[in-house]
Order: sequence, then structure tokens, then C-alpha cells
Amino acid sequence: MIAATAAEWTRKDLTAIEELSPSEIGAVFAQADVFKPLLESREKLVSLHGQTLVNLFLEPSTRTRTAFEVSAKRLGADVISISGNASSLVKGETLRDTALNIRALNADMIVMRHSAAGAAAYLARVLDIPVINAGDGAHAHPTQALLDAYTLRERFGVGPGRGIEGRRVTILGDILFSRVARSNIHCLTKLGVRVTLAGPPTLVPGTFAMFPGVRVVHDLNVALEGADAVMLLRIQHERQTTTHFPSLGEYTSMFGLNRERMGLLAPHAIIMHPGPINRGVEVESEIADDPARSVILAQVNNGIAVRMGVLHLCAHRSRRQPEQ
Ligand code: CP
Repeated sequence: MIAATAAEWTRKDLTAIEELSPSEIGAVFAQADVFKPLLESREKLVSLHGQTLVNLFLEPSTRTRTAFEVSAKRLGADVISISGNASSLVKGETLRDTALNIRALNADMIVMRHSAAGAAAYLARVLDIPVINAGDGAHAHPTQALLDAYTLRERFGVGPGRGIEGRRVTILGDILFSRVARSNIHCLTKLGVRVTLAGPPTLVPGTFAMFPGVRVVHDLNVALEGADAVMLLRIQHERQTTTHFPSLGEYTSMFGLNRERMGLLAPHAIIMHPGPINRGVEVESEIADDPARSVILAQVNNGIAVRMGVLHLCAHRSRRQPEQ
């Protein structure tokens, strides 16, 4: 993978992984590599000094919202957080008007989470300032996929005989309603990872196999056999309007990750989860907390450096015309 330099990054916005080339993903990783060692010092940088970032979260969030706030502050920005029920959206204002008013209040960047697929891309067209998608419905969660791939790259190293290209990653759980899964499918396959999607057929339809580099497996023993990493997903009850399996207990017995099933993985395999975890449902608690195998909190921590990289690149994008 040839990494684009920061000088080659031309994007104002980050709304979906689909639009990124492998070299642009590499540019985010390279920028995160610059910032990550600086996090220890707790010093503020000046990359976004004098700028105001608005965190517009119209769905709940713990990790993403906090990580963007921490990242922007570490880069020297002022941060204002607006949540859905505390904004005038509840009085009938449109998203466009809300955004234009935030812009009129001198915002320099907007990070948005919204329940509607495509909301961030829409806002990116409306506004002349960077818009970063922090999750739009079941469509995309690009910075989650970037931090997941960054964590895999960190664990498997870089250089000849190392790296993530050719690795086998199994994404297990509610794929149908997961923006994390969709963004990871795009991100990981662009980086040459072999992706297996696993879970009940109602939540992992065979049509996902149309993505190049992706296979769909409903037999969990097959899906886990020899995998280098397992990315667990919770059941997204908030997006489901009907039941997709008989009961949570039956889901856990068929598709939950337990000690016995861990034995199917490659000996060096790591356990990932974007959070929030539903302990005892998609994963046994002791596996989620296993310091030798679980990288769940490392993912959260890497979310700072990766989001600092994204904010820095979008704020200091090159104004040259992108190649056609
Ligand atoms: N992974 C993730 O998006 O978590 P939050 O919903 O807490 O932001």
C-alpha cells in the first residue's frame, strides 16, 4: 500500500470509506502514527488552534463523541457539543437549517451522528466546511472502520511478512443493521484482508457475498476456523422492527463467542468489538476482558489518534484538484 502524504489529501469531508482509496486510508494511518506518540505527553498541539468544532450528535454515543472531543481539543480546537433532544431540531427545524445556523455561528468543522443513512453526505454538500460522519443510520461509520484497521495493523505489524494484507477477519453478529460492519467491509477489503461475515441468516443475508473479498458463512465453526481476528457486533435492537431470532439466549448459544469456540481461532487471534458490549450475549465477559486476546480498549484508545489524523487532514487538505 502506497501511503498518500498529508499534502496529497484533498478531501474536505469524510462521509464513507467507499470513497477513499487505499492510499488515502494509508494517509490517515500515517497521520495517526505521527499523533499517537504525542498523546502520552498530554500537551495540546496547534493544528486546529483558533478553530471551532461542533459535535452534532443526534443519536446516543459514548466512545465516538468523546474521542472526537478529545481529539479536537488535543489539536487545539474549541469544541461545542449539541445533542438531538437539546437542539431546535425537536421544534421542527430542518437539518439543513440547523447546520447553516451552526455555520453562521462560525463553526469550522462539524462531526455528525444521525439516524438517517446519507445525512452526513447531504450536509457535506450543503456546507463549505468539513463534515465528518460519526455514524449515519445503518450505512456508515468510517472513523470506526479506520480505527479498527489501524488496530489490526498495529497488532500484526508492518513490513515484509507482517501486516494485515491476506489476514482473515471474521465479523460476527448483526451485520444487516450494522454501519460498523459495512464500513469495515469496505475498509478491510481495500487493504487486502479476507473478510468472513457470520451470524444467523436473518442478520447476515447471502447477498453480502457480492462484495469482492467477502464470504458469508452461517456455520460458526467454519467462520471461526483459523481466523486471525474476530470482530464482534452487538444486536442492534434499536434498528430492528421485527424479531430476527427466537430469543437472546438462543442467539448466544448459536453465535456467542465462548472459550470453546475461541479454540477454533488461530493461536495469535485477537478479539475486537466496537462497543457497546452486551456481555454474556455476543461474548463471554472473561473473553472481552482477556488482556492477552482482547484489544477492545486499545481500539477505543486508537480512536483518538485516528480521529486526530482525520480532523488534521480535512482541516489542512490540499487545494489541488484531485486526479480524475
Ligand atoms: N463504537 C461506537 O460507535 O460507540 P458509541 O456508540 O459509544 O460512539
